[in-house]
Amino acid sequence: MPSIFQNDEEGRKAFDNLAGKAVAWILNYYQNIETLPVRSQVKPGEVYTHFPEAFPAQPVKDEEVFRLLDEVIIPGMTHWQHPDFYAFFPANTSFPSIAAEILTAGISAQCMIWESSPAAAELEQRCVEWCRALLGLPDGWEGAIQDTASNATLTALLTAREWKSGFRISKRGFDGSVYRIYASAQAHSSIEKAVRLAGFGTDNLVPIAVDEHLALIPQQLEDAIQKDTQAGYLPLCVVSTIGTTATGAIDPVAAISAISNRYGLWHHVDAAYAGTALMLEEFRALRNGLEGADSFVFNPHKWMFVQFDCSLYYVRDAELLIRTMSINPSYLMSAQGDAVKDYRDWGIPLGRRFRALKLWMTIQLLGTDAIKEKLRHHIALAQIVESNISLDPRLEMAYPRSFNIVTFRLNEKLDKDGSLTRTLGQQINDSGKAYMTHAVVDGKSLIRWVTGQTYTEEKHVLATWHLVTGFIDKLVIA
Ligand SMILES: Cc1ncc(COP(=O)(O)O)c(C=O)c1O
Repeated sequence: MPSIFQNDEEGRKAFDNLAGKAVAWILNYYQNIETLPVRSQVKPGEVYTHFPEAFPAQPVKDEEVFRLLDEVIIPGMTHWQHPDFYAFFPANTSFPSIAAEILTAGISAQCMIWESSPAAAELEQRCVEWCRALLGLPDGWEGAIQDTASNATLTALLTAREWKSGFRISKRGFDGSVYRIYASAQAHSSIEKAVRLAGFGTDNLVPIAVDEHLALIPQQLEDAIQKDTQAGYLPLCVVSTIGTTATGAIDPVAAISAISNRYGLWHHVDAAYAGTALMLEEFRALRNGLEGADSFVFNPHKWMFVQFDCSLYYVRDAELLIRTMSINPSYLMSAQGDAVKDYRDWGIPLGRRFRALKLWMTIQLLGTDAIKEKLRHHIALAQIVESNISLDPRLEMAYPRSFNIVTFRLNEKLDKDGSLTRTLGQQINDSGKAYMTHAVVDGKSLIRWVTGQTYTEEKHVLATWHLVTGFIDKLVIA
């Protein structure tokens, strides 16, 4: 039996040694992260073939594990905490968050009900309240920490379904009524997935037209609801987005809340990325109309320096959520009943990680002022990118900058079919010096440059600008 499998003096010493090496490894990783290619440069299958067919029956030495980590695994990783990571949306972290994850792993509790870890449940309740106040969300909202926005949105659709059907669908199944769900065509794919998984059928996800800023047009929503009602469908839910994935577009939440309340629809707000910006006074207007929404999700694991996974899901009426989600076998009954929160009833999985610890510890040790300062810094970096683009006649902004999301392309005269923009994106990513995302919006190619990694500074943005313009010089001459 290896000594590290025992909780005795020898086992703890072995763990101390291993954990010391792991922390030293992490420190070294952060010290040298800028020397690594941002996007992994491995070919498909390259990592897989490095590993043997089966697990070892006998333990291997620590050194061998660290060797494989350095030589095989790290080259096969894309470095999300690299300051030149500008792709997708960030999934950023901070040292307090990493330390908290170490502690969470050490405690290794499964926090499904209050009794299974009262402190986890009560700290989670506090975190939900603190974030509500920090973002200026409506006072009465309650919520829970979930793993991802995708699961939160699925939870919202299931709750809407039960609410609208008088809790009949979860008991008897669908009765032939056809429910309709509305969202702009810019909504995240997790909406379509939730529609599919909740049993509505993706044919019943109705895309609503957007304006020139890619924001949902309320009148079009109202027209679609009326048309569907006349055709015998049951309008159920509208999903609006604050900060769409492709361009950061913002749907008119207040107008959508007004329509959803007028026609008796559930209104779910997906603020997975940009929700964090609500803590800044300059974005206070984004809170307008939230009081009329039924549910809301944002991910501290994207832009709040709390690492993956940590998604906050809020609801206006917690009773509807709990009634939809709760299953009460005797062995899971809390002796404390209504006096406590059993968070397994606030989402889909029974088992739950102690995510509140990292949310709490990160905000305790960073403070909200520094977080706000960092968000503003990220937005200022995006403004630098935006102004450089607007001064380069070969480029155009695809859409106006939104938060710290810049979208650009080679202008139409140089790049009629978008192929140069696509090539530019590939060249940036293949260089290993920076990582951005190519997207097609309204049939046209664009590159997304999101300046949201924790450690991105002006020097990184300027060096990347130099890299990008260097590629453009060659592309345009060729
Ligand atoms: C607007 C939006 N909603 C939802 C999601 C899904 O987030 P998650 O990975 O937490 O499910 C994303 C992911 O980037 C997103 O951009």
